[in-house]
Amino acid sequence: MKAVNYHIPVLLKETIDMLVINKHGVYLDCTLGGGGHARKILESIEPDGYVLGIDRDKQAIDYASNELSSFKNFKGENINFARINELEQIVFGMQFDGILLDLGVSSKQIDDPERGFMYSEDGELDMRMDHAQGISACDIINSYGPAELVDIFFKYGEERNSRKIAEKIVQYRDKKKIRTTGELADIIGSVCSKNFRIKTLSRIFQALRIEVNKELDELQTVLDFSMNILKPNGRVAVISYHSLEDRIVKQFINEYSTGCNCPKEFPKCVCDKKPIIRSITKKPICASEEEIKVNSRSRSAKLRIFEKI
Ligand SMILES: C[S@@+](CC[C@H](N)C(=O)[O-])C[C@H]1O[C@@H](n2cnc3c(N)ncnc32)[C@H](O)[C@@H]1O
Repeated sequence: MKAVNYHIPVLLKETIDMLVINKHGVYLDCTLGGGGHARKILESIEPDGYVLGIDRDKQAIDYASNELSSFKNFKGENINFARINELEQIVFGMQFDGILLDLGVSSKQIDDPERGFMYSEDGELDMRMDHAQGISACDIINSYGPAELVDIFFKYGEERNSRKIAEKIVQYRDKKKIRTTGELADIIGSVCSKNFRIKTLSRIFQALRIEVNKELDELQTVLDFSMNILKPNGRVAVISYHSLEDRIVKQFINEYSTGCNCPKEFPKCVCDKKPIIRSITKKPICASEEEIKVNSRSRSAKLRIFEKI
């Protein structure tokens, strides 16, 4: 299978043009997926440069490592980016000129009904990006209390009907365990009006996916840790696909790109806070109309880049 079937890389040129600033540099792709971005980085650097690609999904690592096997300066590792501090390369002090985070799931993961991310096709209610990880969407839907369900639907899906949906789920599972994406989609569909069905399903499935994979906590962890492994003037590029992720990235940039935060009325700074990064993209970069036409998944993408001072 060719990479284009696995996943079409989003904002490819924009990302690589601004991330690869040293042709002899060392790069970390934290979300290797089908290896589309990693390939472009490898093609942009000289043979003495290096790319380390990681993914929490073993299938992605196997696929991309095979695709990129002709590059001797590439290595793939199966690990969650929230745990990169455990990688041997990092324990031994590897520092990076650029780090890429292309968040969320790949087309390959979404389109495979057996992975359970899709509401449009029936499959096992799973949603784990990493099959070795414990809790699946099925476990959450069948074991979380109603208040916990409302909380995740509201917090991660920004769904106004969270309470009604959670009640319906609990009523249903009291009689029969909910095992498939189709069953869950029908339960949600029975609560909302036809006109809002697709939007409601997307929100609830997004919320569940975020909870299963702890996506927001892990994003915060990797952003914080990136400061330890970036060289001065090294860059981080983040492509996010929904407002909750983008908010975390934006807040991180705001927090660390500003200095003193003493109250205005203080005559002199006492906090001694100094900026440690500078923002490269004043506004997020979005996909062009042409890209959206070819790849509808680029529609919601937002690219932000910052640089370590
Ligand atoms: C949008 S895809 C990346 C696509 C890739 N840039 C390409 O060009 O093919 C996101 C990938 O990140 C992986 N991923 C998501 N969260 C992760 C995490 N916390 N740690 C490691 N990999 C993660 C997913 O398994 C998925 O393969």
